Formats: sequence, structure tokens, C-alpha cells
Amino acid sequence: MNFKITTPLYYVNAKPHLGSLYTTIACDSLARFHRLEGNKVLFITGVDEHGLKIQRTASDNNISPQDHCDNISSLYMNFWSNWNISFDRFIRTTSNKHIKFVSQFYKRVEKSGDIRLGRQEGWYCVGCEEFKDIDSSSKKPYCNIHSKELEWRDEENLFFCLSKYQNRIEDLINSDNFIFPKSRKNEIRNFVAKGLNDFSISRVNVPWGIPVPGYPGHTFYVWFDALLGYISASMDENSSVNIDQLESTQWPASIHVIGKDILRFHAVYWPAMLMSAGIDLPRKVFGHGFLTRDGKKMGKSLGNILDPQKLIEEYGIDAVRWYLLRDIEFGQDGDFQTKRFIEIVNNDLANSIGNLLNRSSSMSRKWFENKIPPGNVIKTNNFMKDICLNSIKEYKIAFSNLDFKTSSELILYIATKANQYLNEQEPWKKIKDNDQKSNVGYVLYNVLESVRIIGLLLKPIVPNLSEKILQQLGIQNISEWHNQLQWGLLDDDSDIPSPIPVMSKLEFNDNI
Ligand code: MSP
Repeated sequence: MNFKITTPLYYVNAKPHLGSLYTTIACDSLARFHRLEGNKVLFITGVDEHGLKIQRTASDNNISPQDHCDNISSLYMNFWSNWNISFDRFIRTTSNKHIKFVSQFYKRVEKSGDIRLGRQEGWYCVGCEEFKDIDSSSKKPYCNIHSKELEWRDEENLFFCLSKYQNRIEDLINSDNFIFPKSRKNEIRNFVAKGLNDFSISRVNVPWGIPVPGYPGHTFYVWFDALLGYISASMDENSSVNIDQLESTQWPASIHVIGKDILRFHAVYWPAMLMSAGIDLPRKVFGHGFLTRDGKKMGKSLGNILDPQKLIEEYGIDAVRWYLLRDIEFGQDGDFQTKRFIEIVNNDLANSIGNLLNRSSSMSRKWFENKIPPGNVIKTNNFMKDICLNSIKEYKIAFSNLDFKTSSELILYIATKANQYLNEQEPWKKIKDNDQKSNVGYVLYNVLESVRIIGLLLKPIVPNLSEKILQQLGIQNISEWHNQLQWGLLDDDSDIPSPIPVMSKLEFNDNI
């Protein structure tokens, strides 16, 4: 199966932050899961480089927009490689292939009769790059997201005839398999029910944009331009740009993962644009929630932004990935609380999982000549086997539904049950009786085999930790991950390396 996933194309007005990292980590984890399942994955990320917001940021920094975009785009690329993000394509909306594609797409839409000239009057937020639905008589309206005054605009723009797509968009968003999570459907339904208005797709005073063919002085509205980046990214690196040959590209996306703030663009405007151009629609759109910090929305003005660089240096990649994916329900808003972050990582990874591995491998080394004990004693009821096999099944379903929290909890459930099993079986007491040695071996084998499964299941979520755990069981390379998720594949009689803690406990640092 082909699985094609996209992150939003991030604005290059500033360097990446924890919000962009959050979306990208989730996409990375899902991309890794699908690769491990044996699917052919295309994971797209990139940057959104045009528009007034970027033009102004560059001018405030006394730098040309192109130089500014080059700088921030390379910051993004370095940032993703520091975080070990496994993306396949990185699209820049200033790239030639993208610019060429935008013109071709526009001509298609124009040919469909969906472009008209009109007058655009209204209150505009440059931060959102969006007209706000606010009465023209309001005095000094404000954007709550950006804490900035809106700007009045009255100019001639080209419009896309969105209103023509009312019925088709209603059918699309009412279907059960387009907008996720389901709880976000209502918000879009209410918006569409008010009646769709045509929206302007060109600007006349924004030189930092792609010129509209046939309309000198007009550049494309940044959203019209940026959404098309998903398709230009799907084209093979060296192929020529040809809208009539999209079958040879990797479009359509299986899923766009975005924040809830930009759901309307992805679930309404974007599909209508594609319908007009006669191009396949993305299969799904998932709008996740926002990250706040200690109860407050993260923002520069509040000074409560967490510097991802500090997080990586102080706590490491796996700790951050585990906390974000395990503690916050993907789809809902979530609060980053540093104390809770430390507690969760220490309890789950260092204690429940790390200690389980450490004590079971130490006992096996001690009583079974540094080897995995024999596990082939036939017993009718194998408690841990049932727990593991059921959890694997549920974990896969949850992962496919982007329910990272449930997937992570299922891993922890195996660890909790294995710890409990070990405590109840008390092999340290039984080993004193020589007749019990094979029984002790059986118990330890079951626990180590559960740890092997835990290590495998952790792979898409915390890839480094997963590798360390498997190495501690003497497993070097895993091929065919999905075939390894069966009970009883741990080689008994194989060597167990001397134990090293796979996850050190984190300590609270006040400066982060
Ligand atoms: N450039 C547009 C997207 C165009 S897609 C064709 C844009 N860019 S953005 O840089 O503002 O990034 C928005 C995305 O970053 C959000 O949709 C969300 O995925 C992520 N986040 C930004 N801040 C966030 C939080 N505080 N919390 C969670 N995610 C957030 O919009």
C-alpha cells in the first residue's frame, strides 16, 4: 500500500518552534509506523515562503525576501534533521517547479470558468494571512490570535468561485471519511452551512508572490499558492512539471495533518480548488489541537515559549517525543507542563520499561549463563502471551487512527502487566529450589519476550530507545518489523549483553 502524508508547509516568518515540532513529530511517527508495516511511504514537509507576512518580516530585518527565505528554510531543514525527522521531501514554495505548477493550475481553474474579477473590501490579519468576518463599520478590530490590529483593505482582486461548490463540499464534509477527528466536523459544517462565499486569490500590493498570468501587478494570494505545494512536492525530483500528467506523481495525499487553526483552508477551500481543476482530492484531513504551556497559549509576547533546542540538549529527542505523543490526545488541545513531562518520562520509560528490562535480563544472566532462558516449556495458559497479542492488535488499530496516546498506553499496559507477573511469580525465591529452575526460566523468558515486543512497539514513537532496548536483548537488526510482532520469536539460548540503563532519569531544570 502507498501511504502519503504531509505536514503543513510552515511560514518562514520565524524559526521553527514547539508547535511546528509537535505536528511534525506526530507525522514522523505515523510515517515510521507505515514504513514498518511494509507500506511505501512518502512523507512531505516544507515551507510557505510568499505573502505579505514574509515580505514585512524580511523588510523589518533589512534583508531581501529571498535571502530571508533561504536563511529560514535552511534553519527548518537543519532543525528537522537534528530532531531525526524521517521526511522524504521538503518543498519550498519559492522553488521553480512549484512556481511553474501554480501557473498551470491557475490556468485550469480559469478554463473551468471559476475565476472572476471583483472588489475585495474587508479587515485583514497579516499574521493569519486571512480576511476576517468582521463588520466594515467596526473601529480598530483586533486579531485575538496575533494580538494585533486588523488592516482595512479595499482593492481589485481576482476571485475563485467557491460558491459554485456548495453542494459538492457539503457532500464531502458530511462523509464519514474526510475530516478527522470526527469532533472537528461540526465546526466546518456550521461554516459551510452559512453559505460559501467566493474568495480572493490575488493581491495587488504584494510584490513578494507568484505573478498571476495575464494580470500585471497581481500576485497569487499566499494560501492559493501554498496549498498547491502539496502537489508540487508529490512530483518526482527530476520530472518535468506537467499538470496533464499528474498520474506519474505521488498525488493524492493519503492524509494532510494540520493544526485546527487551518482546517477550513484544507477541508473547504482546497478541495474546491481541486474539484475546479479536475484533480483528485486528498483522502483525509486531520486537524489536531494546540499546545499550551502551564495553561497558557505558548506565545512570544507571554514569554512562555519552550526552546526546542534547549529541550533536545537537556532531555533528548525520545523524552520529548514520548511525552507529546503519549500524554496529549492527538486532536485535543494539550498543556506542556515541565514537571509532568519529567514525571511521565521517568515513570514510564526509566521505571516501568527500563527497570523491567534491567531486572529480568540481570536475573537471566545470573542464573542462565548470560543467556536468554529456554522458553519452550509447554504451558496451557500463557498470561503474557495473551496480553501481548491483544495489545499488538489494538495498538495497530489505534496507530492507524492517529491515536498515539492509546498506542503508547498499550505499550505501558504490557510493561505494567509484565512487572506484575514478575512480582507475583517471584523467580528470586523459586530459584532457591533446584526443581523450579525450568519454571524460573519460563517466567523470565515470558518477561523478556514481552520486553522484546515492547521494544518493537516503541519503534515508531521513540526510535532510539527502541533500538537500545532491542540491543540489550542481543537483537541487532530487525528486518520485517510486522512479522516480528508474534509471540515466541526471542531466541532462547542467545547471549544477553551486560545491562546498561536504556533510559536515564531526567532531572527538573528550572531554566527550561
Ligand atoms: N503556512 C500555513 C500553512 C500552509 S499549508 C499549505 C501556516 N503555517 S504556520 O507556520 O503558521 O503553521 C501552522 C501549523 O503549525 C499549525 O497548523 C499547527 O500544525 C502548527 N502549530 C503552530 N503553533 C502551534 C501550537 N501552539 N500548537 C500546536 N500546533 C501548532 O499556517
